[in-house]
Amino acid sequence: MSPRHILDIASLSGDQVRLILDLAQRPIASLGRPLEGLGAALIFEKPSNRTRHSMEIAVMQLGGHPVYTRGEEVGIDVRETAEDIAAVMAGYHGVLAARVFKHDVVVRMARVSGVPVVNMLSDHSHPLQALADALTMQQTIGDLAGRSVAWSGDWNNVARSLAEICVLLGARFSIATPAGYAPQPAEVRRINGLGSGEFVAGTDPFAVVTGAEAVHTDVWVSMGQEAETARKEQAFAAYKVTASLMERAAPQAKFFHCLPAHRGHEVDADVIDGPASRVIPQAHNRLHSARGALAFIMGVK
Ligand code: CP
Ligand code: NVA
Repeated sequence: MSPRHILDIASLSGDQVRLILDLAQRPIASLGRPLEGLGAALIFEKPSNRTRHSMEIAVMQLGGHPVYTRGEEVGIDVRETAEDIAAVMAGYHGVLAARVFKHDVVVRMARVSGVPVVNMLSDHSHPLQALADALTMQQTIGDLAGRSVAWSGDWNNVARSLAEICVLLGARFSIATPAGYAPQPAEVRRINGLGSGEFVAGTDPFAVVTGAEAVHTDVWVSMGQEAETARKEQAFAAYKVTASLMERAAPQAKFFHCLPAHRGHEVDADVIDGPASRVIPQAHNRLHSARGALAFIMGVK
């Protein structure tokens, strides 16, 4: 049987996502120790706080031993190919996880790995973040089916995974981006085909946020895009999440951000540090959802 990888939310079914979210909330001891005696290679081509720490602790909580490895050290496709790295490491570890610049690298690793591969963020997606986002929204506003979730800002890796998980779980996900930064129509169609929810793309942040129960954003300039900073800061200025934008959302709407955040850029301080903000529980849920995801790939039911 081929290993259970987590490269994208789109490759999971709604039932699998619900199982991961359930596993995330179970007492740790009830999960057994599915990684007992096993290593987990955690390879990072980019910086990380939440992902590294939550994954290391989640591996430990499931009985395993995390081995943090900097991208430069193994030199993916520089010192040796992604395939050679994965095939070799699969002989040492029970899990391989990687944060990479190019999504194709985790796809290629999964193709040759005899153990599960987890995408810890690529240019394309951030599935572990979406699992924590869904868990936090569920705990905050209840079951996501039929709920309205909005995003004002960049259509990026985090937004894509969040759109996918919302549609899988039956929510309506609306995004406002500047023209020129919108999801391609084919991608909107693809995501709409994933489940019973709905994905809608527009350009007016006030229209998109109207009535939403959860309002999300992320940085305008993702890791690896630094050369685009000046252009994007200008293009996204009207997409900042401000108190007046939040006023258009539902009365009890909550604010979410995967962090790290840039106050005064994609979100104002009075929103991210205000009473509607759920960003710290959201960050803490990275640990619980990482544990759920690891338990899932190790076959815990
Ligand atoms: N949200 C997130 O992935 O944070 P890190 O980049 O710090 O891991
Ligand atoms: N979109 C951001 C998320 C960081 C957690 C990035 O890729 O840099």
